[in-house]
Amino acid sequence: MCMKDVLITRRISDAAEQTLAEAGLSVDVGTNEPMPRERLHASVPGRRGVICLLHDRVDDQVLVAAGPQCRIFANYAVGYDNIDLEAATRRGILVTNTPDVLTDATADLAFSLLLAAARRLIEGDHLMRSGRWSGWSPLQLLGRDPTESILGIIGAGRIGTTVAQRSTGFRMRILYVDQRPSTEIERFGGTRVDMPTLLRESDFVTLHVNLTPETHHLIGAEQLALMKPTACLINTSRGPVVDERALVEALSSGRLGSAGLDVYEDEPALAPGLRELDNVVLSPHLGSATEQTRARMARLAARNIIAALDGRRPETLVNLDAWKRD
Ligand code: DGY
Repeated sequence: MCMKDVLITRRISDAAEQTLAEAGLSVDVGTNEPMPRERLHASVPGRRGVICLLHDRVDDQVLVAAGPQCRIFANYAVGYDNIDLEAATRRGILVTNTPDVLTDATADLAFSLLLAAARRLIEGDHLMRSGRWSGWSPLQLLGRDPTESILGIIGAGRIGTTVAQRSTGFRMRILYVDQRPSTEIERFGGTRVDMPTLLRESDFVTLHVNLTPETHHLIGAEQLALMKPTACLINTSRGPVVDERALVEALSSGRLGSAGLDVYEDEPALAPGLRELDNVVLSPHLGSATEQTRARMARLAARNIIAALDGRRPETLVNLDAWKRD
């Protein structure tokens, strides 16, 4: 039987398969579950392109297993820390991601976590469902006002900027940290500060950085100790950006007010003690999880594959050097 052109390692929005089929490419799709590592190794050989997901560890071994005819690994995520970029570039394999199409959805989720944590929405929901609610009470579940508070944005890329834009509706004062000044965030009233200033002054701190060796545990015990005891930490970027055990300690000791997390250090596991805490809102990595966004991500990943296999530069190429080598 002849090998299909493209592998999609797990079932995603049908839009990917449709777009690839319209371009005349044959496709194999994995199951609803993450593809086990041995299966990934066994499934990539002979493919011309692969759509992979954030839980697929695409290291040099997988790239070698794919073979010299393989032109592209298209990640179905904006983050691509799961792919060994240096190895792919060395082997002339293009790597793409799905930026832009998920910016609004992820910024919305960051803001949802911020509001839910600030207004103790999940605790309220649990109270209602428990049957223990005895009616309105003047001191019950008092939260914190987002309105006119100080929002600290770490990472002034597309998603951080879109969170800044959302925050103007709440008249928040924006501080941000980034390697470079951002005219975009400053258009929304943002002021660039250093990290300790942002941590000390912000009521809400939201993380929008890529996971790299430099951002691993960017927020640990030392940084949490600088934050206000009423402050709230939001993470919709990547789990390992936060030292999750240090966060549990800060939240349980009252050193930190609250947190809203969509990503975890060792997904799907949680650090011991995290799920028992009331002052944290936990969502299961839902940043881009809307029907429209996931369909846009699927079409973009498919278009990237088609372009690469046609010899055109994909729209959202990450490793430009792999393209320049040709
Ligand atoms: C991403 O795109 O990086 C998200 O985490 C997955 O939706």
